[in-house]
Order: sequence, then C-alpha cells, then structure tokens
Amino acid sequence: DMSGHDMGAMSGHGNRNMPQAGGKPILPEGLPLRDLPRLENQSDVAGTFKAKLTAGQSTVRFADGLDTPVLAYNGANPVIEAREGDRIEIAFRNEIPNEPTTVHWHGMPVPADQDGNPADPVASDRERVYAFDLPEGSSASYWFHPHPHGLTAKQVYRGLAGIFLVKPKEDPIPAEYGDTVLMFTDLRLAADGTMPDSSMMDLMNGRVGDYVLVNGQKNPVMTMARGEKRRLRLFNATNARFLRLKFENASMTVIGTDGGLIEVPVAAEELLLTPAERVELIVSFDQPGAAKLITLDYERGWMGPGKPDEAAMTLLTANVSTETAPRVSPLPAKLRSIAPLGEPTITRRFVLTESMGGMNHGNMAHNGMSMSSDMGMKFLINGASFDMERVDEVSKVGQVELWEIANQADMDHPFHVHGTQFQVVEHEKDGMVTKPAYRAWKDTVNVTAGETVRFLLRQDLPGLRMYHCHILEHEELGMMGVLDVRA
Ligand code: C2O
Ligand code: CU
Ligand code: CU
Repeated sequence: DMSGHDMGAMSGHGNRNMPQAGGKPILPEGLPLRDLPRLENQSDVAGTFKAKLTAGQSTVRFADGLDTPVLAYNGANPVIEAREGDRIEIAFRNEIPNEPTTVHWHGMPVPADQDGNPADPVASDRERVYAFDLPEGSSASYWFHPHPHGLTAKQVYRGLAGIFLVKPKEDPIPAEYGDTVLMFTDLRLAADGTMPDSSMMDLMNGRVGDYVLVNGQKNPVMTMARGEKRRLRLFNATNARFLRLKFENASMTVIGTDGGLIEVPVAAEELLLTPAERVELIVSFDQPGAAKLITLDYERGWMGPGKPDEAAMTLLTANVSTETAPRVSPLPAKLRSIAPLGEPTITRRFVLTESMGGMNHGNMAHNGMSMSSDMGMKFLINGASFDMERVDEVSKVGQVELWEIANQADMDHPFHVHGTQFQVVEHEKDGMVTKPAYRAWKDTVNVTAGETVRFLLRQDLPGLRMYHCHILEHEELGMMGVLDVRA
C-alpha cells in the first residue's frame, strides 16, 4: 500500500512551528527505519511480473509542518522484486507536467529499446510499456531512474528513483538474516521546504545536498538483539555524493556488489560507495549499545567554493539490546562462482577531461570565482561532449573487450556502462598498479583523479548503449558517449 507514504513520518502533528537551524528546516531523527513500499505484482501467471508505474508530482513531509513538492513513482520510491527467469512488464505513465522522462533500468541486462535511453523519451501525459526477460544468473540489487536528455539530474534529485531486486532461484544467504534495502538519497531544502534549483557550482561538482537520507529518513533506527546478523543492501541513489562508510560497534562483511553476490564473503572495515554503486553486506551486531553507520571524510576533488561540510554524519543507528539473539545459521563460505570474462580481443581507451571554456580550471578552483554557463564548462570523454545523434564506439555482441578509463581531470568520476556488468582488472595511478581484492560484477566504478581503471566487458544484446560519469550533472554537461553494439 503506497497511499499515505510519508517520508517525514511526523505528519499529523499539527505543529505550526517550523523547526529550523540557520534557515534550514530540521528533520526529525531517531524514528524507526521504514521499509520502502513494494510495487505489487498484478499478474497471476507464474513467472510474470506486471505492474503500473507512474511518474508524477507528490509532496513529502520531510520536516515537521513543511510539505516539500517532489517527483515520485506511484507517490514513493518503490521496490520491485522479481526472480531470475521472470518476464517483466511495466506499464509506465508520465504525469510530470511539461517534461519528458524515461525509466532506465540501471545495470540490468534489458534490450536497448526497453532501457529508457535519452533517445526514447515518454512525453508528458503519455504511456509506454517496458517489457523484458530476466536471464538466469541475473540476480542482483539494481535500481531504476529517469534518463531524459538534459533533465536526468533534476528529475533524480527531485525524487525519482526506485529499487529493482532480482532474486535467485535459490538464495545461499540464510533467510533469518532478513533482506533490508537501504536507499541513500541526498536532500537540500530551502527554509520554506522547497528544493532550490541547482547553482553553477552544483553543476560543476555535482549537486550535494544538506542531508543524506536512508529510505527518506534522517538517521532512522533499527532495533537488534545482541549477536544478530542482518543482510543489508546499500544503494547510492544520490546525484553526486561520495559515501565513505563505516559501521561503528558492528562488523561488516561484503557479500555482493552492483551485479550480485561475490564468490566468498570479505570482511570490510569501511567502504566507499560512489553515486549509483550498490553493495550487499552482512552486518553482525555483537556489542550491546548503539551501532552507527557513519560517513568518513573523502577527498573526491572539488572546484570553487561551496565545498560541503564533511564532518562525520550518522546515517543510521542500530540499537543493540543486551539480550542475546537466538543462534543463527552461519554465512556459507562459498556464495557463488564468477567465471572470468576471458581474454579481450579489443582494447578501447576513454580519456576523461574537464574543459572550462579556455580557462584553467586549476586557477578557478583556487580563486573561488563564480561561473556562468556561457563560459562553456564541459566534461568530456575523448575530447567530445555527448551528442545523441553521434555513435562514438562500434562494438559486437559477445565480444570480450578491455576498457581503459583514464581520468585526466581534477576530480573523481564514477564511470558507468549500460546494459551489462563488467569485471574490474586493475587500477593504475602514478605508475602503481593494484588489482581488486576479489572478482566482482560491477556496472559503475569510481575512477579517481589521475587514475586509470581497466575492466573487462561483454555486451550480450545489440543496440545503442550509453556510458557516462554517474555524477548526473557531469553526464548532463557532456561526459557521456554512445556505444553501438551490433549483432
Ligand atoms: Cu544510472 Cu545512464 O545511468
Ligand atoms: Cu545505467
Ligand atoms: Cu564526473
């Protein structure tokens, strides 16, 4: 039931005082963590998932007494849950006034003409059906969001995003760990509760908000017994926020990445989740008291003034009781097998640069001057700015390729490819090569300033695919290209 979905969770209080700090609304904290609403399957045919999805206007009470106009899918950020092998049919309707949109199935192996490309907009007041089959082996934590040309960043920060869980036929993770979705979004509110438009600085650096929310809530609370283990799926659905995460007083084990489970569980002290990335964790709550999911400082590169305060933020609190949980099944030692993609037959190189209309952006960063759009700020791949009508790379179905992403810019760029999952081979920086600690399926990888990342990729479906920086403002300022995969 999605009616009455209320992200502020304090509606009906009738408080006319709008609590504010320095002109910013104060969001309530410490309320019980809410689950995002599920999109109900309307099909009674086994192996088919059918639902209606509508993008439109809604309001959310983030802060007491303030209704914030947002965009939402069926009034919320819904979760679609389906199974490997399922047929999916989503009857989509665009009720956003005067704006086209699309639904892009981030990371999913869907046919190119069903993937919500910028070239396939759904006009305001129009409908279309997105239909695709989920192949065997595709179980993972995906998400979906709009991808209309020039409007992606704005529609996402205004609220359009959802989760797409594809479950395996048999799940190796014990059911008593639960399966909890934690969706991170980034909110900026003006004193009147509205979302301010993006500034020039927001476009350059990517829009970073004032509050990172979990399932629409500020620092919600989970209640746990001592010794409990939980399966948590973390989704970075922000436009541009780099989340370096740590769980205080609890231990984290990574079990999955963007493209599903990894081969064996790997303990982690902390992890970096850049925009669009996902991670699956088992968290053990072995000590009574408060276990907090916090953010740590991370230098991702910043131009000009307005660098956000990076002081540690608590995203989520688990209150662990002194009572001991009943014995739980152990995590299996082996989760699945991931075959290496094999030897590439072709190498492609992509160079990421920033261009400031002839000005040296290094100087700009130091002088902290203000910009205007006519200065021609661009984010480029191989010297080119995105053009929907241009094909940048031609490739072949089934061909194993080595992609080399060289970041020659001054800030990190999380690089994403549509339509498939890839395997990172190595990172190179200042002549030092490092290999990933484990093999994993990824669809987004952070490329730090000055770094080159190499990954293996194979596209199994023909058609036009995008690749781009997933700081959505950079994608919109040109850092995107078109790959034509031929049959
Ligand atoms: Cu979430 Cu084109 O991507
Ligand atoms: Cu995508
Ligand atoms: Cu970028």
